[in-house]
Amino acid sequence: MQFKYTFGVISLCSVLLLVGCNNDHSSVSQISTVEAQKQELQPIIIQGALPIESQQMAAKLQNVTVETVGGWTFWKGTYNGYPMIISKTRMGMSNSAAATALAIERYKPIAIINQGTAGGHDPDLHVYDIVLGKYATNIGALKTPKQPVGGGSNSLKWIEAFDVLPTDESDPKPIQIRKFEGDKELLMAAHKVRYDKGGVVEGTIGSADVWNNELDRIQFFHQRYGTSVEEMEAASVAQIARQFKVPFLGIRILSNNITNNEAYNPRTGEACQDYVLHVAEEYMKSKLPK
Ligand code: 5AD
Repeated sequence: MQFKYTFGVISLCSVLLLVGCNNDHSSVSQISTVEAQKQELQPIIIQGALPIESQQMAAKLQNVTVETVGGWTFWKGTYNGYPMIISKTRMGMSNSAAATALAIERYKPIAIINQGTAGGHDPDLHVYDIVLGKYATNIGALKTPKQPVGGGSNSLKWIEAFDVLPTDESDPKPIQIRKFEGDKELLMAAHKVRYDKGGVVEGTIGSADVWNNELDRIQFFHQRYGTSVEEMEAASVAQIARQFKVPFLGIRILSNNITNNEAYNPRTGEACQDYVLHVAEEYMKSKLPK
């Protein structure tokens, strides 16, 4: 009886031990499967034009290698196991387009986020608020009215937008405002990330190689194009990403807002990088096999 009881307890214990062991094994292998699945994803690219818009993210990557192509720097690595590439595009439409085309050809990214600082076009937005680019639009592609010599120039009369990516390429006068839509899954990932330094809203990002300081002109863009902010890269990147069919989102933090007298604060670049790194992680998580 005593023997039977002891034997019973011992065998029960060993079964429990085995079950315990099995669980341990499977959770260890589950972890390594997830880590392997992360590694198998194509990298997400996060762009910033300036060092204050890219270096902090680059410093947070693990297993980093740096590649320089022409004047463009790419930091390739992982963030919490997810393959990511930080790209310093330098400023403006041409630089950001070139950096985007190079990156797509070289790294075959799963998606691209263009992020950084911007100037407010909407007086209700404040420095440190973040605009998720439901749309990005080129506010420098225009066709002006004719004026004779001596007729002067009035940019408020430049009401025709020039579409540089028309569906009909034989159209000699492709006049329309083209808005590049932000990728819905990237938007969803962005909405999941907590941000406590300001508000997060969806809006339209206006891009051109121009820093507008004329309030009437800014109001014109705000009313006619529906711009929330302006900067110099997002629409250009969106245009290239569209042609390669790579999911894209612009994410911009207000570093200044002349429409409500809020002065430039370069520290905003760090807050945006911090937020966007989490957005990228959230997006990559959603791409793991279910
Ligand atoms: N107008 C234009 N570009 C701006 N940037 C920040 N604020 C503005 C603004 N008000 C960004 C651009 C560019 C650099 C000058 O900073 O995207 O990279």
